[in-house]
Amino acid sequence: MKLFRKSHSVLLKNNLLPTPQDMTQDMLTPVLRVEQGAYSHPWLMGNFVDSIVSGYHMPVWWHGDELLCYLVAMRGADEVHLLNFTVAPAHQRQGLAQAMMRYLRDWSLSRGVHSIWLEVRASNQRAIALYVASGFVKDGVRPSYYPVHNGQREDAVVMSLNW
Ligand SMILES: CC(C)(COP(=O)(O)OP(=O)(O)OC[C@H]1O[C@@H](n2cnc3c(N)ncnc32)[C@H](O)[C@@H]1OP(=O)(O)O)[C@@H](O)C(=O)NCCC(=O)NCCS
Repeated sequence: MKLFRKSHSVLLKNNLLPTPQDMTQDMLTPVLRVEQGAYSHPWLMGNFVDSIVSGYHMPVWWHGDELLCYLVAMRGADEVHLLNFTVAPAHQRQGLAQAMMRYLRDWSLSRGVHSIWLEVRASNQRAIALYVASGFVKDGVRPSYYPVHNGQREDAVVMSLNW
């Protein structure tokens, strides 16, 4: 694990992520394992299958057999909607999310798109801090958008990055 972290941090220091692979259905066992460890309300198998079938952009980063992180992005005419953005719990706080965000911005730009937007749970302060640090601004709130436990609901914060 020490060796892994060392080579991993060298990659990030040089502002590089490994080359991603497009998510395929045969990756869904490790993807779902990470998803369930990362969220209180994880996506289900069907959400990933539908996204793959819809042709969404779904890069997955690996270090050998170990899944580091992935995202799901839907491209519209003038904007990209970020639907899922996840770093495996064992690899958080090492700059991977910031590197993924740089990747997504470059990917969008190379397709002539200058805007990314997303919804995030109002209680997800880690993610909101990341998005603010990446230049996103808050556009509004969708009240009671997400389920919580015991039939309660919580707001979604809508954020966007335009450049
Ligand atoms: C949110 C998430 C993507 C951040 O990934 P990460 O690789 O740990 O983030 P990074 O190491 O690149 O950190 C980037 C910035 O995010 C913020 N951040 C990340 N983790 C944080 C934490 N535990 N507490 C506070 N801020 C945090 C900070 O601004 C940080 O910058 P800093 O390290 O200079 O302070 C990751 O925690 C995650 O996958 N969480 C579960 C899934 C999720 O909530 N996804 C977002 C759905 S909208």
